[in-house]
Amino acid sequence: MVGKSPGKVKYICDHCGSIASKWVGQCAQCGEWNSFTEVIAQDRRSLRDSKPSPAKRTKSSMLGDVSLDTVARSASGLFELDRVLGGGLVPGSAILLGGDPGIGKSTLALQCIGHLQHTQQVLYVSGEESLQQIAMRAERLGIDGADIHVLGENEVQLITQHASDIGAQFLVADSIQTLFHAEIPSGPGSVAQVRECASTLVAFAKQSGCTVLLIGHVTKEGGIAGPKVLEHLVDTVLYFEGDHSSRFRLIRAFKNRYGTVNEIGVFAMTEDGLREVSNPSSMFLSQGREAAPGSVVFAIQEATRPLLVEVQALVDSSPLAHPRRVCVGFDPQRLGMLLAVLHRHLEVPVVERDVFVNVAGGIRLTETAADLAVTTALYASAVNRSFPANTVCFGEVGLSGEIRPVPWGESRIHEAASLGFECAVIPSRNKIKNLPSGFEIVSISSLAELVDWMEAGSQADG
Ligand code: TYD
Ligand code: MG
Repeated sequence: MVGKSPGKVKYICDHCGSIASKWVGQCAQCGEWNSFTEVIAQDRRSLRDSKPSPAKRTKSSMLGDVSLDTVARSASGLFELDRVLGGGLVPGSAILLGGDPGIGKSTLALQCIGHLQHTQQVLYVSGEESLQQIAMRAERLGIDGADIHVLGENEVQLITQHASDIGAQFLVADSIQTLFHAEIPSGPGSVAQVRECASTLVAFAKQSGCTVLLIGHVTKEGGIAGPKVLEHLVDTVLYFEGDHSSRFRLIRAFKNRYGTVNEIGVFAMTEDGLREVSNPSSMFLSQGREAAPGSVVFAIQEATRPLLVEVQALVDSSPLAHPRRVCVGFDPQRLGMLLAVLHRHLEVPVVERDVFVNVAGGIRLTETAADLAVTTALYASAVNRSFPANTVCFGEVGLSGEIRPVPWGESRIHEAASLGFECAVIPSRNKIKNLPSGFEIVSISSLAELVDWMEAGSQADG
């Protein structure tokens, strides 16, 4: 790049987005080879010194005078999706829907558009599938495509031009990784392209009032050249989660300028598309549950929604020099800590044993309130005791074996009661004012108290 003035040419890593002033073969940040692409950056000094032309002026407003009427939301047709969005689609907002390939992003977008076509001008842009494939899917989903505009185009400026020509009010870009901006030299899917295409679409949303839904794949490693670099550009970030082997799918809000984060929507993938699950707790619990060592029901609270899930643990003697620690749906670091607490304070032999923790239904536990359920399941499996099938638990476990209070106690208990549970083991510092009638509370302040209660129960049974 001899001859160009320094500071004008920059290199950006397509994998992690880091910037270098000269081309290098391997990225120092992420270690990826051959990932740098040239971009032309404006010289900082010339940017700093440049002044707007005198004719150009901007004007501020008083915050109190800004009208709030503009946030009239429209229903997407899927109540669970509206709940995650904070009450429906906001005009002029940009939503990013990320998730593994094949999880159901295109299906959701099409179902949403199928509903919105009756009230809005909708446009589905597919850079991935042919129009015929989309038509076939729509037929399978029972969607009449009479009022749905579809466009097989990859160049983002042509897309926004067309959307503006037809006066689109809802635009789906499926997927952002297949689009490109003609002025960026790198290929579609690179960080520079993904970022530029997304900001073009977001700018279009803001100035036209069209709601834009960007679909993005997450790669196996966590998806750098995709959704991650876009999170700050859009208003709402939704992630599709779920286990491919199970039918259930969760949509979780990671960021939402128009609602609560961590809100979740629950769907099931069926023969004819995604169906909303109105009573998700019953679905995460195995049918006809009976008390079994290592199985404990935990009452999660995700944003405004309580949910019951079954946590299973297995502690078994290990033939290996380094016993296995396997977690599905739970943080392995946190598991290490809970095992240390069990070992130290309850003298449970876990050191030379394999430990497996599984959260049923493909749910990922993120709350510290799950500690007590995981610890109880581990303890129950290690000493071969059953935790009563009619009981749920929640609480945070501290390093000295104390049980700490967690938020939303009452809401969790009401969810448990509504599903027929009769008892809950909870931190003693969680005060429950409105207890469902006939519901029993076992308040504990340490793991030792939990063990006493379980031992008393098993002696009564035996
Ligand atoms: P898709 O929406 O194409 O996933 P993504 O856009 O996230 O890559 O959905 C893919 C899966 O869903 C596919 O494996 C088939 C399945 N599916 C159903 O089970 N039922 C249906 O009605 C549809 C349309 C898809
Ligand atoms: Mg798709």
